[in-house]
Amino acid sequence: MCGIVGYVGARDAADVLMDGLSRLEYRGYDSAGIAVFENGQVRVAKSKGRLADLEEKMKQEGKPAGHSGIGHTRWATHGEPSDRNSHPHAGGSVTIVHNGIIENYKKLKEFLLSKGKTFLSDTDTEVVAQLLGYYYELTPGNPVDAIIRTMKELEGSYALGVMFADFPDMVYALRKESPLIVGIGEGESFIASDVTAILQYTRNYYLLEPGEIAVLTKAEAKVYDIHYQKIEKELKTADWDVSAAEKGGYPHFMIKEIHEQPVSIKTTITPRITDGMPDLSECGITTESLNSFKAIHVVACGTAMHAGIVGKYVIEKLAKVPVNVDIASEFRYRDPLVGEGDLVIIISQSGETADSLAALRLAKSLGAKTLAIVNAKGSSIAREADMLIYTHAGPEIAVASTKAYMVQIAVMYLFAFELALAKGKIDEAECRRLTSLLEETPAQIEKILAHHEMTQKIADSLITADSLLYIGRGLDYALSMEGSLKLKEISYIHSESYAAGELKHGTISLITENMPVIAVATQTALFDKTISNIKEVKARGAKVILISRDDYTPDQDVADFQFCLPQFEDLLMPMLAVVPLQLIAYYTAVHKGTDVDKPRNLAKSVTVE
Ligand code: F6R
Repeated sequence: MCGIVGYVGARDAADVLMDGLSRLEYRGYDSAGIAVFENGQVRVAKSKGRLADLEEKMKQEGKPAGHSGIGHTRWATHGEPSDRNSHPHAGGSVTIVHNGIIENYKKLKEFLLSKGKTFLSDTDTEVVAQLLGYYYELTPGNPVDAIIRTMKELEGSYALGVMFADFPDMVYALRKESPLIVGIGEGESFIASDVTAILQYTRNYYLLEPGEIAVLTKAEAKVYDIHYQKIEKELKTADWDVSAAEKGGYPHFMIKEIHEQPVSIKTTITPRITDGMPDLSECGITTESLNSFKAIHVVACGTAMHAGIVGKYVIEKLAKVPVNVDIASEFRYRDPLVGEGDLVIIISQSGETADSLAALRLAKSLGAKTLAIVNAKGSSIAREADMLIYTHAGPEIAVASTKAYMVQIAVMYLFAFELALAKGKIDEAECRRLTSLLEETPAQIEKILAHHEMTQKIADSLITADSLLYIGRGLDYALSMEGSLKLKEISYIHSESYAAGELKHGTISLITENMPVIAVATQTALFDKTISNIKEVKARGAKVILISRDDYTPDQDVADFQFCLPQFEDLLMPMLAVVPLQLIAYYTAVHKGTDVDKPRNLAKSVTVE
């Protein structure tokens, strides 16, 4: 939520900041702004709306010209999206951009009002700017001292980029909770919420830890702790290059990321397979540890939670171990029955989701072992978990998650295979067979992607719908939850996913003439039962879109549209069946003309509760 960037060097700062923000816009797009040192003075340009609105404004009013500055793209929390509430915010001679939430801002604001300060916005961020300004006035010429004093007062989460008018060629940064990296180039330094923002200039960076302060000049970046002691940081190198964060000829990131799924699966599972067998030992998972867990819990939000539900079905089926799946925001406040001997798996693409991070901390405090399945390297969840499996999906830019979900379920399969083997529920030959089938999924997905025209026809038939249902049984039901979320978040068409057998307990009364029902039927053992449920909705007027395998030819009265998947192992069908569901959501949104990569009201990284 919110993206921040900062730059000191020889380039045109406004260009670098705008370029960085364009790669962070997925984090929020309610407003954007930059501040640049122009001839020794801070000049701010900011605007409600997208980055494009700010660009337009700068075309008319002139772009701040200089070689150092900070920038921000906002997902509004305190105060409506408006020019007034847009970052950067100022307090005296201090100008800042902020990602996070200051929980004690009201108390701090009262204090500052009592000192005669006045406020121009409704934001918590302006309170931080004023507090920094206040402390700087007490110790003029000593920015780090003002920063340290301010840090001691702030409660909540923050990553801040700061400029002091007295120090024109310098940018300061500090963080607690919200992510921030410091980029190191040749004669230039950067800050950014995410390494993708600076990849065009450098792949070398430091991860700023909570409580650390960075001081950037064009020659170097120094990092200090809260006692102003210098810290020697390990220089990291991003393994993504700039093309990974660009559209590469696709019209949207979402469709590019859907097409990247076969490669993402390979890069994620290949290093975790040794001699044809799953091998998660590098992540601290051994037969011994797998046998020691009394209970397994999966905790996550949104799409990541849906990946957990697929994982539950697979683990329970193969390893015969009960798995609880929880929504992180519920788990953290309902006194969960978790304790020593339990394993809590946290799944998260960003590794920064506030509720998932809090759930991880709660699980640890209750004595459970934690395993994080995370995509973003060095993120908070990755660093705090006891055990870690990185998914290697590369940067996921579209707000609607696709390839991250795919690799999350791929990892859940590997985990389930290894657990089932450790528990003696499958033998080595079966484990080897399942692992080799998992390795075949990228080729199967390539086949689906090569012949997906039907998903466009289906999408065409959905654009006038107000509401639709997804139905399925077993793994198909688990999967359809994700299909439904994808459709609603980007096409704004209401949809729900339902266990097919549950419809007649109430929900079937929603079915009217031509209401679309997307039925997923890939599981052999449940197939006839799902087809019966489909016939029940069809008989009541539903327009049925059937996602099944190509060995099934439905009777005429079953489906209006059918998308055929290759024949494959039942257990692994979710990895195939999710692809047409993603494509149907994508094309429906495209045909409706919505903003596919940046749907309204959403942001990619949800760092607030
Ligand atoms: C939907 C989507 C979200 C995220 C959720 C958790 O397409 O992307 O539902 O899955 O906000 O985010 P992470 O995985 O970053 O914890």
